[in-house]
This record gives sequence, structure tokens and C-alpha cells, in this order.
Amino acid sequence: MGPSGSGKSSLLHCLCGVILPDSGRVTLDGTDLTGLSEARRSRLRLERFGIVFQRGDLVPELTLVENAALPLMLLGRSRQAATATARELLDDLGVGDVADRRAGAVSGGQAQRAAVARALVHRPAVVLADEPTGSLDTVTGEVVLDALVGLTASIGAALLVVTHDHRVASSLDELVTMRDGALDAPVAGAR
Ligand SMILES: Nc1ncnc2c1ncn2[C@@H]1O[C@H](COP(=O)(O)OP(=O)(O)O)[C@@H](O)[C@H]1O
Ligand SMILES: [Mg+2]
Repeated sequence: MGPSGSGKSSLLHCLCGVILPDSGRVTLDGTDLTGLSEARRSRLRLERFGIVFQRGDLVPELTLVENAALPLMLLGRSRQAATATARELLDDLGVGDVADRRAGAVSGGQAQRAAVARALVHRPAVVLADEPTGSLDTVTGEVVLDALVGLTASIGAALLVVTHDHRVASSLDELVTMRDGALDAPVAGAR
């Protein structure tokens, strides 16, 4: 958590190698991302990271299941296998009934659950979420957050969430705050 402009989104972008930090290093399982070429960082991001944004990041012309299957297809799985895995996940997320609707034609909560599916479908090591419930009403936000937390735990991935919502923060294990582009000291046991 942190005020607007404190660097929360930039930190997520640094962690997954979209941008390089002004100083310091980012390592994942011993690999220094900051020493890799942009192409290698992109590949690593595709393989090891799942990312959920606030809104509007699905491809609107594709169906929910096509959106959710994209990472697996980019990783070389057949369309059939990728689609089957994505459909199962959408079922788990409670949006199996609208899996064949285009992303541009579903509700915000349904689209956000498909975004969660797309972030997790390839079983990443790290899931990054930037205000994942920021454009949802309270009840829908809770459904999406519960799904994100529960499914991330079930695949054993780490989850880092940027949020303005104290209820969201208090449902996670640890709270870290930011100010002026730097981390404050972690507050252990925020739960
Ligand atoms: N490449 C970078 N390395 C280190 N810090 C950065 C980098 N790019 C941006 N920042 C920090 O992030 C701030 C921008 O914050 P931003 O990520 O847009 O905030 P938020 O998402 O918290 O609203 C900048 O003022 C700077 O302090
Ligand atoms: Mg931001």
C-alpha cells in the first residue's frame, strides 16, 4: 500500500522485468533479471509470472476461454490442450457458463475472474496484482480476491497485491507500505 505516485506499479513492473530499477537488482530463484536482455526477461515473465491489472487488460475480441488460454498457447501448448485447461480454471472461478462470451461483452467481475484465470493458467511462480479489485463493487471484489488468494495458494505461487483497500490488505499475510519510490520497513503479521 502507499499513496498515489509512491511507486507501487513501478515496483511490480521492476519485479517482473517490464522495466529496470534505477538501482538494485531483482532476482528470481537465483536468476538476476536485471542482467538479462529484454527478450529473455519477456520469456521469463511469460513462464514464471502471472499478472492481474485493475481493468481492461483482456483482449475484448477474444472469448474468456481464449483469453485465459493465451499464456499456455504462447508457451507452445496446443490450442485444444490450452483451452481445456483454461476452461477448467474458469469453471473453478465460477465463470464457466460465460467462458465462450467475448471479453468485451461480460461484466467487470466476470472479466476480472477471467483475468485471474489467465494469470494462473500456466502455474506461475509469482502472481502480481495491481489494484485487482479497484474497479469492482465490494461483494464482487471479495469474490475476485478470494479466488485470487485461494487459487494462488493452491498452485504454491507467491502473491503480491497492490491495493488501496484496507480490507484487501488485512486478508493477506504481510503488509508492506511505500512512500516516495521506496519501501517502508515491513510490518510483520499485519493479519
Ligand atoms: N525504473 C524505476 N526505478 C526505481 N523507481 C522508479 C522507477 N520508475 C518509477 N519509479 C518510482 O515510482 C514512482 C512512480 O510511481 P507509480 O508506480 O506510478 O506509483 P503508484 O502505482 O504507487 O501510484 C516514481 O516517482 C519513482 O519514485
Ligand atoms: Mg499505480
